Amino acid sequence: MPKTPEYFVGKTIVITGAASGIGRATGEIFAREGANVVCADIDIEGAERTANQITQKGGAALATETNVTERKQVEDLIQQALDQFGRIDFLFNSAGAAGRRSTFLEIDDDLMRQTYDLNVNGVFYCMQSVLPHMLENGAGVIVNVASMSHKRGGPGTSVHYASSKGAVLTMTLGVAREFADRGIRCLSISPGPINTAFQAAANTSEETMAQFLNDVPMKRFGEPEEIGELVLFMCSDACGFMTADTVYVSGGGGWR
Ligand SMILES: NC(=O)c1ccc[n+]([C@@H]2O[C@H](COP(=O)([O-])OP(=O)(O)OC[C@H]3O[C@@H](n4cnc5c(N)ncnc54)[C@H](O)[C@@H]3O)[C@@H](O)[C@H]2O)c1
Repeated sequence: MPKTPEYFVGKTIVITGAASGIGRATGEIFAREGANVVCADIDIEGAERTANQITQKGGAALATETNVTERKQVEDLIQQALDQFGRIDFLFNSAGAAGRRSTFLEIDDDLMRQTYDLNVNGVFYCMQSVLPHMLENGAGVIVNVASMSHKRGGPGTSVHYASSKGAVLTMTLGVAREFADRGIRCLSISPGPINTAFQAAANTSEETMAQFLNDVPMKRFGEPEEIGELVLFMCSDACGFMTADTVYVSGGGGWR
């Protein structure tokens, strides 16, 4: 929650991956607080569904079809957000995926390239495109979604994914520290298993599902809203001295 009531009213957040899961839930939470929400996703129908849900409740939203692996499309996204709302206060990079599961020796060039294009370059393009504008304003908060998996390395199934999320964490650190004295804060969140389409794709059998659950002392998956409320806090004026770090949201466990 913000320190100042109405802190988010009229402010604007750009969210990638807003069609589904954590991105969608975060959009709805920011709209609840009165923020304008730019819903960007490669899945335009999903982005429009999120935006419609927001506008039906009286909020302000814009849906854009954006593939974050394409720099030009990301630049267009930022321009569209500025044309519509005049200013961008927050960026939440939630678009991401694990690709297929693979042992380390079977990760081929395509899988590695696709994973890094989406999880690393997508975040890189979005931050590079929005930062000049935030620097001009002397203010801005960027929150990136990393993953608990960066701690484990993804042995046997997802070294490609875990290492890409390690890069997100490190890029966040660097950007935060480079711009810390110019009004910019940049943070990452490292979730454990969260109930979304992403997690459903990983639960390939009852056995894997049980393994995931066993690994969480709370014996449940997180809900996307439990990440969204943290993003809200991170972007708020109650969180002014926090930058560069990652916050784990994992029910006390890790993601295998
Ligand atoms: N759910 C989990 O258990 C979990 C755990 C740790 C980290 N994460 C991370 O959380 C983030 C959000 O995932 P989620 O769980 O909400 O999954 P999700 O699959 O529900 O949402 C991901 C969204 O990203 C979008 N997307 C994919 N490729 C894109 C592209 N090239 N350009 C733009 N949008 C694209 C998808 O269309 C989808 O709407 C991801 O970065 C994921 O790696 C998820």
